[in-house]
Amino acid sequence: MYLTQEEERMLKGEYGQAVKLSMEILTGIGSVYEAKRLVPVRSVHAGCAYPNFVASVELMEKFADLGGKFRTVTTANPRLNPDNIDLWGDLKEPENLQLANIRQHRAIEKMGVVPNWSCTPYFEGNLPRFGEVVSWVESSAIVFANSVIGARTNRTTIGVDVASAITGRIPEFGLLLDENRAGEVLVKMEYQPDNMFNYNNIGFIIGKTCSGKVPVIEGLPAFTSANKLKVMGAAAATRGGIALYHAVGITPEARTRTEAFKGNKPEYELAIQERDIKAAVEEMNCIKSGKIDAVLTGCPYPSIDEMKQLAGLLKDRKVRRDIMFCLFASGNIINYAQELGYKEVIESSGVKIFEGDCIVSHSVQAWGWKNIATNSAKCACTVSAAPTYLDVLYTDIEECVKLATT
Ligand code: F3S
Repeated sequence: MYLTQEEERMLKGEYGQAVKLSMEILTGIGSVYEAKRLVPVRSVHAGCAYPNFVASVELMEKFADLGGKFRTVTTANPRLNPDNIDLWGDLKEPENLQLANIRQHRAIEKMGVVPNWSCTPYFEGNLPRFGEVVSWVESSAIVFANSVIGARTNRTTIGVDVASAITGRIPEFGLLLDENRAGEVLVKMEYQPDNMFNYNNIGFIIGKTCSGKVPVIEGLPAFTSANKLKVMGAAAATRGGIALYHAVGITPEARTRTEAFKGNKPEYELAIQERDIKAAVEEMNCIKSGKIDAVLTGCPYPSIDEMKQLAGLLKDRKVRRDIMFCLFASGNIINYAQELGYKEVIESSGVKIFEGDCIVSHSVQAWGWKNIATNSAKCACTVSAAPTYLDVLYTDIEECVKLATT
């Protein structure tokens, strides 16, 4: 791989041991993927591994102990937030996980992370421009960066994110290259989605039918909101590992079908019809029997208008005592919600708001939960799989509120 003179010096250790280790990781990955060079990154979105991944915790600490400092703007994905421990009540994490989690926080904070702890970094201080190269973790944010903003990122893993942040570099391969961004499958919308829930469902269908491909979606309204694109991408990424889709007339590099396919022909075509939406909802609904233990909302994190909608639905209602209604959100959005009076309405109904936290960071499998309800296709796919294997009632937010408050 070609390295500039400065990169050669970084690899030799002239910029310190953390930079040297980072360069070893990046050049190693670059050679696996046959990258020809390293390219500068405009920003990093870093993940905190589940605290039971001991190797990841130790790697973070190693970078920090070697004097690593982030030279690129680096935001943070949600994690097990120690400040929320009391809010979880009896659902405590084992002490060794809590400690590993705190060690991980300290390490990443020592290196200069922007502590926004959010899975929607593009709404919270990390907004790249069209064509810029970034190095992001978090599947829902990655697909948003590539497909809605038109920035360029691979599905970066934990460890590589920190190496990118310390060096300001990433090997150029995969979705950073023009030729790998060409559309591969044509998806024709023969059904017009009308709400957030159905954008979740479209994302699920696209993930299932185009797994590992670059789908080109034709027929979505040109002014589809960022929130709808957010949930659609999150579902597609979780169900099918989609890191880039082209929505014709929406994705900046896909103004037309021809531009999206870069002159290539689709490998195959599919049409999405109303019956496919119904089938997707049925497939995600895997609940068999028994009561709902919890309602999980805020996946991906909500915008302020979603907070407003939830406050409107919860007004003058009370959550049943036998259901834990969890809302995950970023600190910034919670602050806005407080200013606007939504937080008080939501909390006084009995909903618990977990700032900067995420259900997948917790050892839910030890909590005795069996059934949950959610309005998020990403959440439904995630918690019904290993290691939690929960049964899911998947429905829209209106129904989630009704069943939790009736
Ligand atoms: Fe965000 Fe956690 Fe869902 S990181 S996208 S709330 S799984």
